[in-house]
Amino acid sequence: MLNLTSTGAEPPRVVFFPSPGMGHLTPFLRLAVMLASRNCVVTVISTQPTVCAEESAQFSSFFSSHPNITSLELKILQDNSSNSRSDDAFITQFRAINRSVHLLPPLLSSLPQPISAIFSDFVVAASLAQITYDLGIPNYIVSTTSARCYSTVAYLPTLLSDTLAKFKVDFGEIYIPGLASLPKSIVPPSWLDDSPSNHLLSDYLIPNAQSLPKVDGVLLNSFNGFEPETISALLDGRALNHLPPLYPVGPLEPSKIEKLHGLPWLDDQTTKSIVYVNFGSRTVLSENQMKELGKGLERSGFPFLWVLRANEAGENEKKKLQELLGESFLEKTKNRGVVMKRWVNQAAILAHHAIGGFVNQCEWDSVTEAAREGVPILAWPQHGDHKMNAEVVEKAGLGMWVKDWGWGGERLVKGEEIEERVRELMGDEKLRESAKKVGKEAREAFEVSGSSENALMAVIEMLKERDGK
Ligand SMILES: *[C@@H]1O[C@H](CO)[C@@H](O)[C@H](O)[C@H]1NC(C)=O
Ligand SMILES: *[C@@H]1O[C@H](CO)[C@@H](O)[C@H](O)[C@H]1NC(C)=O
Ligand SMILES: *[C@@H]1O[C@H](CO)[C@@H](O)[C@H](O)[C@H]1NC(C)=O
Repeated sequence: MLNLTSTGAEPPRVVFFPSPGMGHLTPFLRLAVMLASRNCVVTVISTQPTVCAEESAQFSSFFSSHPNITSLELKILQDNSSNSRSDDAFITQFRAINRSVHLLPPLLSSLPQPISAIFSDFVVAASLAQITYDLGIPNYIVSTTSARCYSTVAYLPTLLSDTLAKFKVDFGEIYIPGLASLPKSIVPPSWLDDSPSNHLLSDYLIPNAQSLPKVDGVLLNSFNGFEPETISALLDGRALNHLPPLYPVGPLEPSKIEKLHGLPWLDDQTTKSIVYVNFGSRTVLSENQMKELGKGLERSGFPFLWVLRANEAGENEKKKLQELLGESFLEKTKNRGVVMKRWVNQAAILAHHAIGGFVNQCEWDSVTEAAREGVPILAWPQHGDHKMNAEVVEKAGLGMWVKDWGWGGERLVKGEEIEERVRELMGDEKLRESAKKVGKEAREAFEVSGSSENALMAVIEMLKERDGK
């Protein structure tokens, strides 16, 4: 019998199950807050132990500053045998999570009320499919990359169905019906690497992409105005119409814990005067490349803020800045540049009026943060989805991309070339205007009846309707 007073109108109860890596965790936490502030009852699962200290710190400050979001711990099963450990701590963690997903049902049933939906990462789509099906809980994927990359990954099972999940060596472009084709040069090198130890396609991308049609929807950290061609083709069903409904709900809003930049000296700087350089926490430039980058920044004459990778135990990790960049560089630029080796709240830095340009690799999270603030990007893709994202940045007018710099490590980009492009980034009025326009469109997407606000409300309405049935 229908109980009209207590069903339907109740707020949805949603659970977020983020995957490791700050680039994955951050969008989940942002979306969790956005749903909580739209009257959903939100629980976030933290996998314990986390992959790095930074993530633990992020979780604890998140839960203490959002008391109405419930924390649930999933204690993952670690397997210390050598065949399940990888040189990449993230891969080891993914495997441990994959081995532990059967612990989810008992964990979820410990919640006081049944849940309306679980929001998880693409990388666990295949592992979760059966579990959420058995539990009868709708499963939504939160995509952490561009629509451009998401659609390409979603097409991989079709593309590689008859080639044993391997790319042929001799192709020029990837054609996806209804979408712009992708030149081979922007396909992630890790997809093309057919050495026997590379299981990225066969173990991760293909099985998870094959599971996409089973999920209830995909939330994209992008917005219609930013990737208009790709998103409208996906929304209209002109491309990949076997995929579940897509909800472009980006750029996700930074949460309260991300609002402080913690760099008081920034406040004394002239508006749009500073070049901000950050290649994220998972990329290491070679020492030679770092020295050339330093030279380029020095020669450009602009004040700069350069944040070096602070995460994980990479080979550069133990070295001091003096060793990495040279005493004379630090001496010559000490009145003009700040070099730091630590985690920063990037969203808050990009929101600061003093930042005039952003040199980065185009990790998607960073791109969306720059888009929100309309900060022009000098794209220097290093690996993975970066070139696909750089293409989005360039097309949307958010930044420039010097294609002949290639992938990270492909060639040594000289300080003089970097100097020239940094000057262009900081001096190009047209670029500054078009980047500003992207920022304006990003904000409009969240106004009443904005495209991202509408998409987010559509998700919430759908959950309410389902609960009411
Ligand atoms: C949770 O707290 C936030 C403020 O921190 C508030 O905007 C939101 O409405 C609250 N959500 C619920 C469901 O109580
Ligand atoms: C693996 O190592 C962790 C920490 O070193 C330990 O807590 C855990 O019990 C070990 N697991 C097994 C199956 O031995
Ligand atoms: C995840 O677990 C399933 C089932 O246990 C297994 O078949 C699959 O190979 C695992 N995937 C990875 C990437 O380890």
